[in-house]
Amino acid sequence: MEIKTDFLVIGSGIAGLSFALQAARSGTVAIVTKKEKMEGSTNYAQGGIASVLDPEDSFNLHINDTLKSGDGLCHEDIVKMVVRDGPQRIRELITMGVRFSHQRKNKQNLDLGREGGHSKRRIVHTKDLTGREVESILLERAEENKNIRIYENHMAIDLITKSKMIKRGILTSESSQTCWGAYVLDHNQNQVLTFLSRITVLASGGAGKVYRYTTNPDIATGDGIAVGYRAGVKVANMEFVQFHPTCLYHPLAKNFLISEAVRGEGGILVDKEGKRFMEKYHPLKDLAFRDVVARSIDMELKKSGDDCVYLDISHRSKDFIKDRFPHIYKTCLKFHIDITKEPIPVVPAAHYVCGGLLTDENGLTNLNNLYAIGEVACTGLHGANRLASNSLLEALVFARRAATKSSQDFEEKKDLPFPGAPLWDPGSATDSEELVVVSHNWDEIRRFMWNYVGIVRTNNRLARAKRRIDNIQKEIKEHYWDFIVTRDLLELRNIAQVAELIITSASLRKESRGLNYNLDYPLRDDRHWKRDTVIWI
Ligand code: FAD
Ligand code: SIN
Repeated sequence: MEIKTDFLVIGSGIAGLSFALQAARSGTVAIVTKKEKMEGSTNYAQGGIASVLDPEDSFNLHINDTLKSGDGLCHEDIVKMVVRDGPQRIRELITMGVRFSHQRKNKQNLDLGREGGHSKRRIVHTKDLTGREVESILLERAEENKNIRIYENHMAIDLITKSKMIKRGILTSESSQTCWGAYVLDHNQNQVLTFLSRITVLASGGAGKVYRYTTNPDIATGDGIAVGYRAGVKVANMEFVQFHPTCLYHPLAKNFLISEAVRGEGGILVDKEGKRFMEKYHPLKDLAFRDVVARSIDMELKKSGDDCVYLDISHRSKDFIKDRFPHIYKTCLKFHIDITKEPIPVVPAAHYVCGGLLTDENGLTNLNNLYAIGEVACTGLHGANRLASNSLLEALVFARRAATKSSQDFEEKKDLPFPGAPLWDPGSATDSEELVVVSHNWDEIRRFMWNYVGIVRTNNRLARAKRRIDNIQKEIKEHYWDFIVTRDLLELRNIAQVAELIITSASLRKESRGLNYNLDYPLRDDRHWKRDTVIWI
């Protein structure tokens, strides 16, 4: 079946929905989303959105904090643009209906939180459930909009590109690569649909599931990065995977983050004897940049042989903790941890991919008509280590810019006919009875990525990881077309692709910088490596 739309958006998180709401002023928008529409990292964001909203703060301070965190690799022009656009994007969210928290004493003032690496309080938040509030309001607005249709349980498989059509004899020449939509698996009907679009937007989020331990939800399998890479999009800085220092450590808790805002409100990291340790590692102590804190915890755990460290906020009043962090309080209590009385066991976990599909200042990739926004993109904002709460900000700013630019392009092209696209070719596919192999490969990738390509790397470990991923990639390529496509198989193909990109990028960078820490090259080397790592087919 073929579906034609002016704008195709892949993903219904903050980036995809913000784009859709703007683009719907110009044409029809189809949003395809892999599972339920709320399901994405946005929905789980706790800390909030960084922006300059306090008269005591300044754009220069936020710009400098972002540049310092990025350890020499941020693109300064992009940082300035994003920081300056921030307050306007926040005001728009408020106008749409997002209810951010206000100060208890001065109720007309927003309550601004603090997180690692920020020199001022500048994080707008809705207690510790910021993402849920933003996501639900954006969804409400999108569902009211007659020009927007959301397709749940629809997973993008691959992009439809001009070169694919040339290969199949539908077009005859190729001056530059162009995207015309995507093949999408309709999970409910178990069929592959052809979505033809004039503008396609990848807003498919991150790739935390490449690692065994992650704060990310299950959808975060790096699909957009893999899909884009296979279509010829340039991919940048994949070695910079951010590990969040404080994920709840409990055998029954899956992926539960303890927000950095807890440290922003006085929480301190301690070992099992209750001794603080961050002052040994950085002058900003518990509020140092995230790469430094995660690495310090990793060192403490390796030295002590313990399973976790602890985050202690119990010195703040019970009322304050329950009011400021209701979600963390209630969730920990379910695991019999009362955070008002005792420290919380925590460990680092994969959290955010600073790299992704390389874009320009409007979110446009090197393929005509293809944009990438949100966590799937590498815009130049984060450099080698993202500053806390700059991700939701980046998604808002780039969604707006991509919508403005693509709507202008769309006006020029809207009367041109769509090319005929080939229907999905299932080849000689048969039903898979080998699902156990899929889950085995999944586990193997996530395990060796955690062990060999984690917070601390060495050349030896990277070489081992490379050998393993090469074998798995070969297996996937040999067997892929033997099976009917399923969501699990497609995700396996994508996490394997993303794992390979991370390993290759980490092996290319022969220095330690930001989130790429390699014991064989322990120092930062600006002479040779003050540049992005860019890979493409
Ligand atoms: P997401 O919100 O992840 O949405 C991706 C969408 O794409 C989903 O709808 C998904 O189903 C869909 N999708 C994926 N693959 C496909 C496919 N193949 N086909 C169709 N659809 C697909 N950042 C901050 O700035 N502040 C915070 O406080 C903060 N807290 C965080 C807390 C947690 C627990 C986590 C995990 C992250 C946090 N981050 C935070 C990071 C931030 O939430 C994410 O980077 C951001 O939400 C990404 O938004 P997005 O729209 O790009 O992707
Ligand atoms: C957090 O609340 O600690 C997450 C913030 C972020 O990832 O930016």
